[in-house]
Amino acid sequence: MKKQTRSRRILTGMLLALACACLSASSPGGSSLPAGGAAAPVEVPAPPPTVALTFDDGPRASTTARLLDELALREVQATFFLVGECIPDNEALIRRMAAEGHQIGVHSYSHIRITGLSKRDFNFEVGQVRTQLSTILGGSSYWLRPPYGITDASVHQWADSPVILWSVDPEDWKEKDPQRIAAQVLGQVQDGDIILFHDIYESSVDAAVQVVDALLQQGASFVTVEQLMQEKGVSPENGAVYRRIP
Ligand code: NI
Repeated sequence: MKKQTRSRRILTGMLLALACACLSASSPGGSSLPAGGAAAPVEVPAPPPTVALTFDDGPRASTTARLLDELALREVQATFFLVGECIPDNEALIRRMAAEGHQIGVHSYSHIRITGLSKRDFNFEVGQVRTQLSTILGGSSYWLRPPYGITDASVHQWADSPVILWSVDPEDWKEKDPQRIAAQVLGQVQDGDIILFHDIYESSVDAAVQVVDALLQQGASFVTVEQLMQEKGVSPENGAVYRRIP
């Protein structure tokens, strides 16, 4: 009896070790042991990834509208972190974003670094955009992405929402070549990634469409950041920083 328990414990340990190896290779779901339980490598096909596309610095009427058209065509949801200064005259576009299931968040009012600000200035840079969005859409849950991804303890303390950074950055503002940008993303994307784009460039819209089409072919799902957390069982916490989920 004791012997059986011990061998079962060893088998459980082996199973756990295998599961951990699979998890660290970002390919959960592999549960088949090699025949005889030997330590032979097991080919486990990676399950299709679920990722969040995020777009900063808009809205910009021309490029953002075209992006929304392309996303709608493919029934893909994304997350938009908006700059307050760009909101006037784009209210209809923002209503459309919300109506089509995209998540909308705050990227500051004037795209400045929001570290080192007085609380009053921080409240303007972040709070003013929330007020704009509440006026247009109602509601009050607008998560924060700090400009440049620069954040600190004060930002976390005052954010009053989760702080969303990213895990994949193709630097789409640098060289505006859609092929290069898409290849950069496709070469590294994994399940749970948060991908950074800027919807103010035509090249970024083209690159995002290429990424979506390539990953859809692999069976990937595109969800908002909030949905990604829900799917992965992560509860969003105010002031916590998220780069990828989990
Ligand atoms: Ni930005």
